[in-house]
Amino acid sequence: MKVFYKKESLFKFINSLDASKLSIGFVPTMGSLHHGHISLINKAISENNHVIVSLYVNPTQFDNKLDLEKYPRKFEADICFLRSLACSKLSLFIPSDYEIYGSQINKELFDFSGLDKQMEGKCRPGHFNGVATVVMKLFEYVKPNKAYFGEKDYQQLLIIRRLVDNFKLPIFIIGCPIVRDSNGLALSSRNLRLTKNNRAYASKIYRILNYVKENFETLNFFEIKSWVNNQFEKDSIIDLEYFEISEDLTLKTAHKKVKKIKYRAFIAAKISNVRLIDNIALN
Ligand code: PAJ
Repeated sequence: MKVFYKKESLFKFINSLDASKLSIGFVPTMGSLHHGHISLINKAISENNHVIVSLYVNPTQFDNKLDLEKYPRKFEADICFLRSLACSKLSLFIPSDYEIYGSQINKELFDFSGLDKQMEGKCRPGHFNGVATVVMKLFEYVKPNKAYFGEKDYQQLLIIRRLVDNFKLPIFIIGCPIVRDSNGLALSSRNLRLTKNNRAYASKIYRILNYVKENFETLNFFEIKSWVNNQFEKDSIIDLEYFEISEDLTLKTAHKKVKKIKYRAFIAAKISNVRLIDNIALN
């Protein structure tokens, strides 16, 4: 497995793949790899001649300095983990801030046609501009044919699809299903910051989403929202940031069910100051 730290050496390698007409799959990550990331990597390996995984904790997508400082970083362990896959198709790109941004760490502004106006975009101002800034740079360096993103960050997935459409980039964006712990908790690098007890407790988020899915046909939106709010109001361990039912394609907040429209429920919540997000398709 090749490991690139400099974009010049990555460029050379990518150009050699390009010259041999080999397809490139790309999995951008912020490291602290878990089986959610690995599911994307395995899918990319099965669909491409070569796969590049990036490990980079992107400062411009953090609206909160403390969150950036506390974001888990264990790149050495990540490299060992990926080496253990013993896959000759796999290469790693681990850039520094300077390799990505030069001497000025700034984010660019993008128009996401409103997809960024609710949920994560509303709670974390500027977050998606930061994500799009780094993903555009990474796309430029890696020049992938296909790039893989998890439904765990569903709003991010739609925003990346919009970005690729807006800039007419020749890249297929592949959405991949959420990988969960055996108790239902969506895997996340941030789970490393939870105690064992809190990890078990946080699986409540998935149980609530599942209840919403199971009762989506019979309850109206008001009943669902009241039930969900109730589950969190009486809970002193998890703080609900938002619960939304949105149209699956536009992410517009839904107020009543319309036939043929697909809906998805989203939760963001904090447990001992660790922010967790999850979502589920409802119909
Ligand atoms: P990160 O949180 O490391 O996630 C990298 C990719 O893994 C994202 O596409 C995310 O949706 C996916 N992923 C995370 N947990 C998952 C799970 N439990 N099941 C399935 N997929 C999962 O998302 C980012 O990094 C950054 O914003 C990035 C796109 C790398 C830009 O900096």
